[in-house]
Amino acid sequence: MSESAFTPALGRFAPTRFYDHVVTLTRERLWRALAAMYVAPRPDDVIVDVGCGTGSLALLLARLEPRARIVGLDPDPDVLAVARRKAHAADAAVRWRVGMGDGLVELLGAGSVDTVVSSLVLHQCPISVKRAVLASMSAVLRPGGRLVIADYGRQRTRLMRLAFRIVQLADGKEDTQPNADGVLPRLMSDAGFRDVREAEVVPTVTGSISVYVARRE
Ligand SMILES: C[S@@+](CC[C@H](N)C(=O)[O-])C[C@H]1O[C@@H](n2cnc3c(N)ncnc32)[C@H](O)[C@@H]1O
Repeated sequence: MSESAFTPALGRFAPTRFYDHVVTLTRERLWRALAAMYVAPRPDDVIVDVGCGTGSLALLLARLEPRARIVGLDPDPDVLAVARRKAHAADAAVRWRVGMGDGLVELLGAGSVDTVVSSLVLHQCPISVKRAVLASMSAVLRPGGRLVIADYGRQRTRLMRLAFRIVQLADGKEDTQPNADGVLPRLMSDAGFRDVREAEVVPTVTGSISVYVARRE
């Protein structure tokens, strides 16, 4: 069963229409490019961007490999409306779906996806939802399929812990602190992923964003 409550893109900070402006504060061009490098889309790959928001990462992947079959999924119809407009302007063929990250199999089919990517989503989710979304990602991937997650990870320095407070103000401490304590790799392993590693760490004025990569068993 899928939990239907979710934190919107800007948490309790501001309306969704400001999202693309606010996210530039996170050095998004750098970490999105790094995430895309690990996705390395190929022709005919089925790639799903879970919690795609306004679609920036899905659209970057579509630009890198227009022959990949990219699905952008998010529970919030308002952010998907922005994503659709951006895709139209870029003439990009991404399929947009309304749905929760823990309902991927019902939407797409078990073992049907080559790569799951997700950015800035899990830090907003309660721990039970982080686990449920990762389990769903594992179930929707084909054996050997790849997971690439870009999100706030372990905040290693005092400066990064201080910077991360801005995210905690917007999204609340309860859901975000486990990320700052470095919980994601363990949750990925618990969900059945192997070769889990934190491949990149990007310091930003909102805390450090890690790029995690893993494979489904
Ligand atoms: C901070 S935004 C990130 C958007 C986008 N991935 C990006 O990198 O800009 C978080 C997004 O996750 C979505 N979200 C929140 N909870 C979710 C869940 N349980 N499953 C899927 N998406 C979720 C929100 O609707 C929002 O669009």
